[in-house]
Amino acid sequence: MHLLFDRRGTPAGELTPAELVELLRFPVPPSDAWLRTNFVATVDGSITGADAASGSISPESDQHHFALHRALCDAVVVAGGTARSEGYRAVDLADWQRDVRAAEGLAPYPTLVVVTASADLDPQIATPAHGTGGPVVVATTTSAPAARLDPLRAAGIEVLQLGADAVDLRAVLDDLAGRGQPRLLCEGGPALHRDLLALGLVDELLLTHAPQVVGGPGSRTTHGDGLEEPVDLALAYVLHADDDALFTSYRTLPEKPVGRLE
Ligand SMILES: NC(=O)c1ccc[n+]([C@@H]2O[C@H](COP(=O)([O-])OP(=O)(O)OC[C@H]3O[C@@H](n4cnc5c(N)ncnc54)[C@H](OP(=O)(O)O)[C@@H]3O)[C@@H](O)[C@H]2O)c1
Repeated sequence: MHLLFDRRGTPAGELTPAELVELLRFPVPPSDAWLRTNFVATVDGSITGADAASGSISPESDQHHFALHRALCDAVVVAGGTARSEGYRAVDLADWQRDVRAAEGLAPYPTLVVVTASADLDPQIATPAHGTGGPVVVATTTSAPAARLDPLRAAGIEVLQLGADAVDLRAVLDDLAGRGQPRLLCEGGPALHRDLLALGLVDELLLTHAPQVVGGPGSRTTHGDGLEEPVDLALAYVLHADDDALFTSYRTLPEKPVGRLE
């Protein structure tokens, strides 16, 4: 991976794996969560390819980048829609990801947190397709139907009921930070991303620019009502991979003060 720009002044050039981890490591605020969102989009702005999923537009380097961010977070946060359409299950990791986590002092696996008002999820989400996998939490409302929650609980899923008619997203993030999981990686989708931005809860936006044009009706990285105010961003770094994917990281303004967890 080649560093093109780092606003902290790191000279441009090829990064070693250790330098890439250093760049991507989560900054952690003293008593708060850090929420990073991660999307891949084509040059014409679509977050899906012809198969209505993101895998077909994700270059090989993006798949590694996606996996590295999973290796560095405490929890993967995903919307019910994306969890259903992309077939999410408890997060399992490759040996190299577990090595990164061990070196960083993180728990062996990140928690998967699914945000859903309907709680319309298959209980098999509790376990990964292969391997061991981390815990799964469903974040929903106090009005979610028991008939849907009971099978999830029976499968070993923790159910958080925060908010009456709508999921209280701020309370979800606070809950995770409060249990020692402040490094939060939101993998979408666009409706959840829009809501998190509208509430001022996103600290960092990652966008992989895939070197493709696909046309079609694909969503942007946000979907839903326009924001009352645009969210202004500051470019943090830009990476280039051999397969011509570009990786950008933006911080939302004003920036949250951060330190690092020891
Ligand atoms: N390219 C990429 O990087 C990328 C990343 C992620 C997703 N995607 C694509 O995005 C598409 C899915 O998008 P989508 O329109 O289904 O949007 P989405 O944001 O993935 O899912 C919307 C659903 O998530 C739940 N949800 C979202 N925000 C919520 C909130 N504030 N409170 C409670 N529940 C909330 C609701 O689920 P319930 O209906 O269960 O209540 C809602 O119906 C897929 O095609 C996927 O491939 C692409």
